[in-house]
Order: sequence, then structure tokens, then C-alpha cells
Amino acid sequence: MSQRIGILTGGGDAPGLNAVIRAVTVKAIEYGYEVVGFERGWAGLLGEGPDYSTPVTRVLEMSDVEDIHRHGGTVLFSSRTNPSKITDDSGKVIGYEIAKKHLDDLEIHALIAAGGDDTLGVALKLHEAGAKVVGAPKTIDNDVSGTDYTFGFDTAINRTMESLDRLQSTTVSHQRVTVVEIMGRHAGWIALHGGIAGGANWITIPEVEFDVKEIAEMIKARYAAGKKWALIAVAEGSIDPDLQRRIQHSAETDDFGHVQFSISQGVAKVVADELEELTGFESRHTVLGHLQRGGEPSAFDRVLGTRLGVKVVEMIRESNFGKMAAVQGGEGDHIVPVDLEVGVGTSKTVPLKDYEVAKLFFG
Ligand code: F6P
Repeated sequence: MSQRIGILTGGGDAPGLNAVIRAVTVKAIEYGYEVVGFERGWAGLLGEGPDYSTPVTRVLEMSDVEDIHRHGGTVLFSSRTNPSKITDDSGKVIGYEIAKKHLDDLEIHALIAAGGDDTLGVALKLHEAGAKVVGAPKTIDNDVSGTDYTFGFDTAINRTMESLDRLQSTTVSHQRVTVVEIMGRHAGWIALHGGIAGGANWITIPEVEFDVKEIAEMIKARYAAGKKWALIAVAEGSIDPDLQRRIQHSAETDDFGHVQFSISQGVAKVVADELEELTGFESRHTVLGHLQRGGEPSAFDRVLGTRLGVKVVEMIRESNFGKMAAVQGGEGDHIVPVDLEVGVGTSKTVPLKDYEVAKLFFG
């Protein structure tokens, strides 16, 4: 029997995941492996039924992955299930034991986890529990350390740019202010890059606290100069300390402790209300939300997903476990193995110097 390798996709989906699944399958079959997909991320590996008895798997053949790189989402589905939350009656975490047992029972030689810092964090723990694991870093947020880019980011910034282009024309027509909320809880990469490309008149990011009064002054100056509209790009996690108490997110958290952000009472709505109050000019808000994540991947993300998928299979063949395939600048082969610890350590945030460049175009 040929050796089996497993693959799962976890966390928020990102355009390019299907390119990874396709490339893994094609490369693995070339090497003579059988590919087993686990559905819904760690949920599929942990399994369904009493005592998590049955993992949810699907063998991937060439015919299953033909052309899927064109499409957004993930054919293996995703979830934010966290094995650390699976405990026995005494409260001891047993999620990793269950996952490891299922890998052993299914004779999975090595597992590929495609995901962001949460998924890669679980991958690292599973590796420490004795499983052979490699990672493919993914997130539209681009905040995984140790890699220059994550796939999904390029598609997300293009979506953001297109959205700002569309919002600009209606904002100008109605001579008003539009505040656009963009994904990014801890890192403002999408707001920054999408905002620069889409010509936002101000951009806020989680890394740098903002003062809504400064934005109001800028808007008043624009109106005084005859430019009676403004487009403000705010990352969902950006903070004006004086406005923070007015933001009302859901009290519920997912398995990784993330709060579900409010569309009706998030930062964009609060900023729009305050700008209207401070300037007297009509201000509206738009939350781009999952529109940034869904739909077909850009060429860049299709190619990056493909390269990472090929690389992780090569890493398995070379027994290079406990690592993720990362993009790093420089000559030659830009996809290199990097320790999973690096990817899950701290979020890769926007450097201040990059934000300074964006500020040149505020106003
Ligand atoms: O995957 C990362 C991300 O896109 C964040 O930018 C966003 O805050 C979050 O996912 C939303 O996740 P969900 O779809 O689970 O609400």
C-alpha cells in the first residue's frame, strides 16, 4: 500500500486554499502517496460520533482537484475547532491524543495543516505530541510571522481596492463621508494596502491608536477646499481610546477566544456617527466583511498556493517536519521551510514606516 498523507484547512477561509489542496494532491500522487482530506479542519480529524470515534475523511484523487484552484473557499471546508478545548471529565485536554490516535489508526504518515496562526498553533502542539506535521500559512490578514506573504492577502486587498473604487463614486455623488470597515483585528495589512490602492483619505490600523478629531479636522479642510466628500478606511481592530466604549461586539467567543465583531455597532459605525457629530457632514458606514474573503482567488494567490502546496509535499518527502512552507525574499527558491514556532509566536504587524508612507496621502 502506498504511504498516506493527510491534509486539512482550518480557520477563516482564504482564497488560494483550493490551489494548495490541488497542488498537494498532484505532487503527492506524483511521489506515490495517497492523499486523505479531513473535512472542516481539526473537527474532521477529531471526528464525529460518541467519544469522537469517527474522523471525517475523503480520499483525494486527481479528478477531485481538477481546476479547483480557480475557486474561492476550500473544498475540504473549514472550522475554528480547537483540540485544546476537548477535555475529559477531569478537565484534562485529550484533543491531541484523539487526533494523534486517528492519524495512527488511519496510517497517515504525515499531516499538512493549511491555516493561520490558530491552525498552525494546533499543528505545532500536535507535532509536539508526536505527529509528523507540516504547515501552509494562510490568512487574508497577512499577519503570520516568518513569511513575507500569506495567500489570500492579495485577493483581499484587490477586493478592498475595488470596493473603495465603487464606494468613492457614490460617496462623491452624494457629497458625504463614507467610513469603510476592513478586516484585520490585530494587524492592519489589508486596510493599509487596500486603503492606499483604493485612495482612502485616511486609514486607521490596529497598530497605531487614532483620534477621530484629527480625521474630522481633515474632512472639514477638504470640504472648505471644495472637495465635499471623504473615504475613510478603518481596520476592524483599530482603536480610538475615547470611542472604544461605544463599540458593542458579541459577548460570544469562538474556540480560540475570538469575539465575533458587530456589523451594526463596530468601529466603522461608531466613527461615522462621531464624524457626523463633529463635522456636521452626512457620514455613512459600510462593513466589507466576508466579501473580502469570498470568491475567486487572484493570480498571485493561485500561484502562491500552488507553490506552497508543492513545497509542503517536498518537505514531507525530506522528513522536514514541524515546519511551515514560507515565502522569504531573496535570490533563488523563495519558498523555504521555517519552524512552526516562528509562525505562531507573535503576529506580524504593520511596521510604522509603512504607515508613515500611507500618511503622506491622507487628506
Ligand atoms: O481569517 C481572519 C479573519 O478574516 C479576520 O480578519 C476576521 O476578523 C475574522 O477572520 C472573521 O472570522 P469569522 O468569519 O469567523 O467571523
